[in-house]
Amino acid sequence: MRYNVVSGAKEILNKSEYLVKNPEKNKNNWNKVFGNNNKINLELGMGRGSFIIEMALQNPQINYIGLELDISQTATAIKNIRDRRIPNLRFINADASLLANFFGKEIDTIYLTFSEPWPKRQDEKKRFTHINYLKIYDRIFKKNKHIILKTDNKILFASSLESLSSYWYTFDKVSLDLHRDERNIKNIMTDFEKEYFKEKRNIYYLDATFKN
Ligand SMILES: C[S@@+](CC[C@H](N)C(=O)[O-])C[C@H]1O[C@@H](n2cnc3c(N)ncnc32)[C@H](O)[C@@H]1O
Repeated sequence: MRYNVVSGAKEILNKSEYLVKNPEKNKNNWNKVFGNNNKINLELGMGRGSFIIEMALQNPQINYIGLELDISQTATAIKNIRDRRIPNLRFINADASLLANFFGKEIDTIYLTFSEPWPKRQDEKKRFTHINYLKIYDRIFKKNKHIILKTDNKILFASSLESLSSYWYTFDKVSLDLHRDERNIKNIMTDFEKEYFKEKRNIYYLDATFKN
């Protein structure tokens, strides 16, 4: 799937009430941003945002934050909200490596949805399940750690199983073919996933926890 460049993206971001402009100012205070003490779940690399928008709509008792590096993708996610009012949703336009600047121990679940696979060995540190990222997540998870990952990439999936298990996560669910899994795993599709679904590609899925 190609990334589209959105003209006027900066302005769309500046005007949006959903975009948190200086996320570091809210560190340890996200309950004030949402006006409640509900759980906060975070998607890294949300792209056009369909997944996190739908999650927020279906689960008003949970707060959702979509983080995305690319300004055009973030602008598209803002546009995709359309005229709906979704008080339990916010976006951050930033690099995921800076997460610990934005959050204290405030996050309940992290979604890694079709993250860049970085298949070459020299790039493996950039994978969102590399141990360096797992250490960053330690700093922002509230108590228990909970990661849900979906990908079509075998290398990313295999390396994620390895790094998560060596970091003492346990797996509540693993599927090598999410859409044809007989357990009917509850699932909301992301934008990339919708394309892959049409192409009948296998989607790998894991739900991992570390309980403190
Ligand atoms: C393959 S797309 C998947 C988008 C969306 N999750 C989906 O499934 O439709 C990966 C997204 O991650 C974003 N991304 C890549 N590296 C990132 C980083 N370091 N921090 C935040 N977002 C990142 C990209 O800009 C892109 O939008």
